[in-house]
Amino acid sequence: MSFETPDNAVETVDLSKTYAGSKRLPPKEALRDVSLAIPRGSFFGLLGPNGAGKSTFINILAGLVVRTSGEARIWGYDIDRDMRRARRAIGVVPQELNIDPFFTPSELLDLQAGLYGVPRSKRRTDEILAAIGLTAQANAYARTLSGGMRRRLLVGKAMVHSPPVLVLDEPTAGVDVELRRQLWGHLRDLNAEGVTLLLTTHYLAEAQALCDRIAIINHGRLIACDTTNALLRRLDSKEMTVTLGETIDAVPTSLNGYHVELTRPGQLVFHYPPSRTHSGEIIAAVQDAGLTITDLSTRETELEDIFIQLTSAPSEGPR
Ligand SMILES: Nc1ncnc2c1ncn2[C@@H]1O[C@H](COP(=O)(O)OP(=O)(O)OP(=O)(O)O)[C@@H](O)[C@H]1O
Ligand SMILES: [Mg+2]
Repeated sequence: MSFETPDNAVETVDLSKTYAGSKRLPPKEALRDVSLAIPRGSFFGLLGPNGAGKSTFINILAGLVVRTSGEARIWGYDIDRDMRRARRAIGVVPQELNIDPFFTPSELLDLQAGLYGVPRSKRRTDEILAAIGLTAQANAYARTLSGGMRRRLLVGKAMVHSPPVLVLDEPTAGVDVELRRQLWGHLRDLNAEGVTLLLTTHYLAEAQALCDRIAIINHGRLIACDTTNALLRRLDSKEMTVTLGETIDAVPTSLNGYHVELTRPGQLVFHYPPSRTHSGEIIAAVQDAGLTITDLSTRETELEDIFIQLTSAPSEGPR
């Protein structure tokens, strides 16, 4: 199938969702006015605490949840007006492990390909099984697969129709370290081939390692959307731990101009904005204070620091 090539693989404008209430529960506003552009070819991370609205966002794109208002386009196709084309352009790995236990991985991939009208000659069942590391289990009942294997099978199911956009809702939850690395490698390969990836994860190091762009939602609202590098620069904070040859019980007064603490009798920790303070300057100041440096380490800002800062800020959004 040939696709037009839009600038944005996914685009939403003021997307909102309020789940209807019931006798026991009041209505729940899960998304409010989320406008997001996911550039074609990007590896995009959608982050947020539990209940932030990530799966709601993804399930609207997947056609599993009906939005309350706003617009959503996949590969330029409106999810309502051009539903069929929008659906064909996307493959979704849902958060829930919903696999029919009485089929084998091989059968399930074949069935899924059939659902999407992929002709037999074009089916890539074996290739996909290899990519998700399930070749050995190709003909085993799905109910005999472990949790991590099931999650990988879901990833495989989303790929059968070779969609240009692949959306993965926590694809590595419960997947062991080695297979997670393997899955990462596979996702990176797909991205290098031009597939746009949208991923949610609670492993922030994973998002930092894989994604070139990141959006953060909290209480249903978009609170940040930027390149990963720009997000990391935003905090402008670094930490330097200096281990001293001497045992001191107070920070020397000559270092008072720095934000520094004595964490142990022989260890100083400096907190500083790398855009304004050089690490060399700190080292010189420590030596000028007559101290000997026996060891030194610095810690860069991590996505986790940004995430905590952004999502713990008070919000007037829906709860
Ligand atoms: N079918 C539903 N009916 C009512 N409320 C719902 C429904 N699905 C989700 N919600 C609520 O909407 C909010 C957003 O849920 P959602 O599943 O989108 O969050 P999430 O960001 O994916 O969280 P997690 O990280 O836990 O997967 C939550 O408060 C949730 O309780
Ligand atoms: Mg979710």
